[in-house]
Amino acid sequence: MAAVGCSVPYDDCKETADWLLAQTSTRPCLAVICGSGLGGLAELLSNKTEIPYMKIPGFPQSTVPGHEGKLVFGELGGKQCVFMKGRFHFYEGYCINKVVFPVRVFHLMGVQALIVTNAAGGLGDKFQVGDLMVIKDHINIPGFAGINPLLGTNDERFGPRFPCMSDAYDRNYCRLALDSALELGYQDFVREGVYCMLTGPTYETVSESRMLKALGVDAVGMSTVPEVIVARHSGMRVFGISLITNQVVVDYDSRVKAEHQEVLQVAHDRAQALQGLVAKVVEKME
Ligand code: HPA
Repeated sequence: MAAVGCSVPYDDCKETADWLLAQTSTRPCLAVICGSGLGGLAELLSNKTEIPYMKIPGFPQSTVPGHEGKLVFGELGGKQCVFMKGRFHFYEGYCINKVVFPVRVFHLMGVQALIVTNAAGGLGDKFQVGDLMVIKDHINIPGFAGINPLLGTNDERFGPRFPCMSDAYDRNYCRLALDSALELGYQDFVREGVYCMLTGPTYETVSESRMLKALGVDAVGMSTVPEVIVARHSGMRVFGISLITNQVVVDYDSRVKAEHQEVLQVAHDRAQALQGLVAKVVEKME
């Protein structure tokens, strides 16, 4: 089947998957994507094998501060896992199919569930800086503008032409996370909410933020949605969590300005809590 646009052919994904399987005895059933400043999540793993993106055939490179650029294979909660320490963003100039390439590779390696983490700006009163938001749904704004990783010829070996997205985030995993938050004593700063992706790299104008708030968005960021779409396309179950690193400005008189350094600082300060929650969820996943 001919590929359209910049989609990465099945055989290229398979080649990378087979290459990775030859580098490690880990046979991952779970993949975790570590968001901005959240690479410390990979410290949870035991029996680690680390492979820099630079060495992996076909892999793009991370160009953003706070994204290290390696895969870490290992074990967590009795499960074989692969962690992405650093993800790829559309705003880095990668075509959308390159952004999701690792998820396709994970699928071909046998991964059945994906955990996505990110740093995001909070909208409204429901979330404060430092809160963790269990993602219950998303709004794909780039999709409205014709940027969707499934555009082009559909390769049925990955999944169906028209995948359902009304169940993108697994309800059981969301419940597991809220139960786990209660057990860990995190109930004051863990809640469910709706994530919205914009391409970035600009942060939002006041009017854009007000529009998102009116649409029911709880947190806004520049990632995650493409990976989730591709994971669902190939039948993976998905759990997502956003760390609220800043309050999005919805007031013209505000002197607050969004900046990446603040995002990284909050990610650093809340890393332990996020790691604790992810570890507990992984342990409870069947
Ligand atoms: N907007 C968009 N992306 C972000 C933000 C934000 O306020 N914070 C962290 N990522």
